[in-house]
Amino acid sequence: MTDTIDARAALYEVIRARRDVRAEFTGERVDEQVLWRVLGAAHAAPSVGNTQPWDFVVVRDPQRLAEFADHVAGCRRAFADSLPEERRRTFDPIKVEGIVESGTGIVVTYDPSRGGRNILGRHTIDDVGVFSAVLSIQNLWLAATVEGLGVGWVSFYDEAFLADFVGARPPVRPIAWLCVGPVTRLQEVPDLERFGWRTGRPLADAVHAETLQVRDA
Ligand SMILES: Cc1cc2nc3c(=O)[nH]c(=O)nc-3n(C[C@H](O)[C@H](O)[C@H](O)COP(=O)(O)O)c2cc1C
Repeated sequence: MTDTIDARAALYEVIRARRDVRAEFTGERVDEQVLWRVLGAAHAAPSVGNTQPWDFVVVRDPQRLAEFADHVAGCRRAFADSLPEERRRTFDPIKVEGIVESGTGIVVTYDPSRGGRNILGRHTIDDVGVFSAVLSIQNLWLAATVEGLGVGWVSFYDEAFLADFVGARPPVRPIAWLCVGPVTRLQEVPDLERFGWRTGRPLADAVHAETLQVRDA
């Protein structure tokens, strides 16, 4: 089914074009049918023991978006205050979220208890549960990109605050706030590169033969 030149090219192109979005949201709200298609892609992700340990909480109430944005602004300030002077100057102009402008927040939660006690594939490495939930995010991100939407992953929050905010009770954890909405465009270059915070590294530095070679951070 996917074995055509067009399908291959399209997949690599969407992977290349995907961006983390903060400033390019149009302010329009994502269409409901499109949102469900994108959530369908997220829900089709692979998961350990087929547990599908994710849930998606869609937050759209403008007051609640503003409340969460306020909390994030506090966390951003705390991070800025923790930086040495030079890094702080680089960080200052960087926008770290588009919570209100995107119009839709999707909080992805992870439930380690889904699937019971004997999860096929998680008996030696517990983290594979959370890895599975993260894969749903990547599927969502790529599907949103082909739908002309932007996604911005926000992690400047206190986990207990967000758990309370969406009513996630232990052992369920919120693992991401995703800003999702129509965009004017996607940047060609990641924001953190454009603003001089950190550039990406070449593929050749990330690929190793036989054993891991330690290289510069
Ligand atoms: C787990 C995770 C958390 C992130 N948290 C934030 C965040 O809080 N704020 C932000 O602006 N970007 C956040 N990002 C986006 C990264 O900064 C971005 O992915 C990276 O700079 C590469 O840019 P690109 O996604 O446009 O290729 C996060 C990304 C990931 C995967």
